[in-house]
Amino acid sequence: MTETSNTGEQVAARRTYKILGNPADPAPVSAIPDAVLDEMLQQAGNAPVHYACDRVHLGKMASPVPWRAYKLNRKGCLDLMNHLVREGDVTKVPALLATAQFLVQVTWLPDEGTVHAGDGGKHAVVFDGTLRNMEHIAAASAFAQSLLLVADACGFRTYWSSGGGLRGKAVFDHLGIPDREILIGSIFLYPAEAANTEVKPGSMAERRGKLEDWSRWTG
Ligand SMILES: Cc1cc2nc3c(=O)[nH]c(=O)nc-3n(C[C@H](O)[C@H](O)[C@H](O)COP(=O)(O)O)c2cc1C
Repeated sequence: MTETSNTGEQVAARRTYKILGNPADPAPVSAIPDAVLDEMLQQAGNAPVHYACDRVHLGKMASPVPWRAYKLNRKGCLDLMNHLVREGDVTKVPALLATAQFLVQVTWLPDEGTVHAGDGGKHAVVFDGTLRNMEHIAAASAFAQSLLLVADACGFRTYWSSGGGLRGKAVFDHLGIPDREILIGSIFLYPAEAANTEVKPGSMAERRGKLEDWSRWTG
């Protein structure tokens, strides 16, 4: 093992940035090509994976990996922002979209027959805690974290959000995301610099404690 690891430093330096803009005066559509996001997703897609997803999820997107990524570029973010404002959304989501360069809706794919959805509200999904579902979530999470790290290394500021209204049926329907998928995170990618924004850190950023607070040798 080398004495220092660039990857380790990169992992340790990653932080959450919640960047709020003004929906009434959003930053203009930028020239960052969609291919930049696709390249980052291609790399993040090498996350570890155990079980193949249930066949019910195989369609036009035919990969057996238990996650899916729905991509919005700057224009897509602004279109969604305007849609939400028109629908009367008074949460922070429109402000988060006002500055985002990309939004990636990352879902995980539960096994067929294991979801007992509630009313479609943002926290209403109930699913069976089978080992396979747990490992589907774990793999999708590994993918999401890989995306954060790749984007961070490419100079984006990132925010993994539970999604609020972005995980609800109305937004899923609007974006054409199948109901049988469950959001694991709305991943906001922000440009390194953005004017007229409010930047908030993650609330748990300073609360991890020391290494011995969450690890111990058992041998
Ligand atoms: C599964 C998951 C969901 C999260 N959802 C939210 C969220 O809804 N709102 C929020 O402010 N932060 C959310 N976060 C980000 C955390 O607040 C952040 O990672 C934490 O405060 C630690 O800060 P750091 O990422 O800068 O180290 C989420 C993180 C994870 C892993």
